Amino acid sequence: MSWDITLAPQAGLEPAHPAPEAGALSTELLGLGQAPIVASADRALAWVRRCGAVSCTAVSVRPVSPRRVDGPETLARLAADPPEPHLLPMTASIGRGGLAVGGVELVALAKQYGTPLFIYDEEHIRVRCREAVAAWGDGVAYATKAFLCTAMAVLAHEEGLCLDVATGGELHVALSVGVPPERLVLHGNNKSEAELARALEVGVGRIVVDSFDEIDRLGRLTDAGSAPRAQRPRVLVRVTPGVEVHTHEFVRTGQEDSKFGFSVASGAASKAVAALELAPGVELVGVHAHIGSQVFDVGHFEEAAVILAEFFAPLSLSELVVGGGLGVAYVNGEQTPTQGEWAQATRDACEQAGVAPGTRITAEPGRSIVATAGITLYTVGTVKELAGIRTYVAVDGGMSDNPRPVLYGSGYEAFLPREPAARRPRAVRVVGKHCESGDVIVAEARVPDDLVVGDVLATPVTGAYGYSMASNYNKVPRPPVLFVRGGQARLVVRGETFEDLVRLDV
Ligand code: LLP
Repeated sequence: MSWDITLAPQAGLEPAHPAPEAGALSTELLGLGQAPIVASADRALAWVRRCGAVSCTAVSVRPVSPRRVDGPETLARLAADPPEPHLLPMTASIGRGGLAVGGVELVALAKQYGTPLFIYDEEHIRVRCREAVAAWGDGVAYATKAFLCTAMAVLAHEEGLCLDVATGGELHVALSVGVPPERLVLHGNNKSEAELARALEVGVGRIVVDSFDEIDRLGRLTDAGSAPRAQRPRVLVRVTPGVEVHTHEFVRTGQEDSKFGFSVASGAASKAVAALELAPGVELVGVHAHIGSQVFDVGHFEEAAVILAEFFAPLSLSELVVGGGLGVAYVNGEQTPTQGEWAQATRDACEQAGVAPGTRITAEPGRSIVATAGITLYTVGTVKELAGIRTYVAVDGGMSDNPRPVLYGSGYEAFLPREPAARRPRAVRVVGKHCESGDVIVAEARVPDDLVVGDVLATPVTGAYGYSMASNYNKVPRPPVLFVRGGQARLVVRGETFEDLVRLDV
């Protein structure tokens, strides 16, 4: 059942709680007087309970992701439609054996490699990388936290991107396959002395400085004054522009109340700039900000760019990095700006706010490079119909290979690769095999009527923050990762074995 629901604002309701709509990461709660949108009554109620606002009578949820539709009938139809083509990897095609990606049939891959299985369309990633370079120019960095393995590091480097690494571990993976250190950008709100020392030793291209403690640490680690300016490590100062983007609170970073960066409004950012300009061991070259992730509205990037630009322009520095954060569509009906639109809007805003021509304005996309390239395959093991309640479809993975639904209430589509164009009239909940009820993959899934135990079930758009946040919860081995291209599948990360699960124990 679909429902138009409006909410009287109540004390205790926080904005940006995971909302009941699919794709919840990109939804927010609005107060009374805002346009209501459609949410199914049970989802809305579940959400209201989660917010702890049991006394409220009605809910208004506005998806920040621009949905093309807003009528209940259209939403219901969209839900039952097969996943829209733009949710699938670029080279997806339908043949006699069902859905193929990179010219390889998914059901056949599931048979050969087993499930769960992560499959990436290599061509798709390469095209997105080239778009990023075209949109932002040299210096644009791939945010490796979205998905990193040695093959991915090589690919991003080959396609001309720098790599943003946020820990010593990510730094190690990039260096281990020969990505030149000068193509690496080191991030982190709490870089250890060892991480900084390693970055300085190998000579990373940029360090994004995040705190006064880090400035002190860098001072101790750099051989003050002895190096000519040109040879000093280049640093940027990370600032928080004070912009609240409409995305899940866990992935908002540009607001004042943040563990990241230096606040522009409080004057901390100016103090950091002054300290770094005086620091004899480093060369301050620019300013960095990242306002959040899964941002659909180019307006937020423009807003942040204006604040950043006003801070940046008088400093006479040469580089401005606007972070990552471009959203992607996860469910039917969602649409996102392109990397080109994001870059153009940002550049225009910077220019109008007085950033000098010739300034290197660049970004660090993660999700928008890899999310849609990835698909996860599972095997259906159990179908449990609870009369009058719901049907649970349990698969052989779960929150250990995709924690995003549990963490952020994120929505996904589910479909059968053997019949990818089939309509999906049956409403089910896709769950994993872990020992807790929160182990949900798709809370409000739609599947074809003929789904049976043994079917391979796919969830698209799992290329970002899925494998990278995977765990061994319940001692479930992490799945293998394949790159597919030109009719060939290439194993890039092998699946863990039971033996791997005890290899660290001493
Ligand atoms: N730059 C910085 C400094 C970041 O912190 C991030 C993401 C990015 C770039 C890349 O953002 P992207 O283009 O991927 O949105 N685990 C969450 C996302 C966390 C994002 C953290 N930082 C999720 O699954 O949605």
